[in-house]
Amino acid sequence: MSQPAVSMQIKQLESNVGLPLFEQVGKKIHLTEAGQHMRQYGRHMSDLLDEADEVFEAIKGVERGELSISVATTAGHFVTRLLAAFSRQHEGITISLDITNREALRHQLEQNERDLVIMGQPPEGLDVDAEEIMENPLVMIAPSNHPLVAEKNIPLSHFSHEHYVVREMGSGTRFAIERFFDQYGVSFNTGIVMTSNEAIKQAVEAGLGLGIVSIHTLELELETQRLKMLDVEDFPISRQWYILQRKGKRLSPVAQEFKAFVIEKASQFIRLPG
Ligand code: PGA
Repeated sequence: MSQPAVSMQIKQLESNVGLPLFEQVGKKIHLTEAGQHMRQYGRHMSDLLDEADEVFEAIKGVERGELSISVATTAGHFVTRLLAAFSRQHEGITISLDITNREALRHQLEQNERDLVIMGQPPEGLDVDAEEIMENPLVMIAPSNHPLVAEKNIPLSHFSHEHYVVREMGSGTRFAIERFFDQYGVSFNTGIVMTSNEAIKQAVEAGLGLGIVSIHTLELELETQRLKMLDVEDFPISRQWYILQRKGKRLSPVAQEFKAFVIEKASQFIRLPG
């Protein structure tokens, strides 16, 4: 800047503050008390602007920023491991995870509340960009001493008088099971209703009824043989996992990176015996 331009700026600053910032003593120019404060604030402001620049640059990359993910209750069984692996590779990213049921996910998508959603079948009537991640087979479970455990290819009709421990209405698993029984013309009788897969597994183990759950919820139970899968005709019920966002949503570089990571790696985070 030229000297007159600097003088102008100083005058303007002094008039904004309402106090002189400089004083001339003899031939030397000094800062007044207000001028010293102004210098301090000026340095702070300039540091903050540099810091903001760094943050914006980082957000343009994948090293900083926030990632908000919502997943179906059942997907919670493997997504936490995925998130742990992803955040180890991107330590500056803050992740928030909401685990909730299908109806709630639909609402969140409608409101465009989250970056990405992991769920079963994408909701109908909503414009979304969905990519399939992997299979999500639903299997019938029984306590390990159940009389049908050793049977092979048990006809579905055999279960028409059975009562099941089931997930709540609004659950994607429940929706898929009812559609499946309907398709095969076999009645599906709901017994006790529970909002958690963990509770269902415990209820089945305690003999409260049979259950139908995603195989991805059964890692420990199958390994320890506390529960057994029944070999039922036309089972497992075929279902898939998807990762999706509202159509037109502009994903941040971090969200794009996470989406690609999930599509490529999710199946490596499933630990089923055999
Ligand atoms: P849920 O969803 O946990 O709500 O049953 C899983 C799915 O949609 O398959």
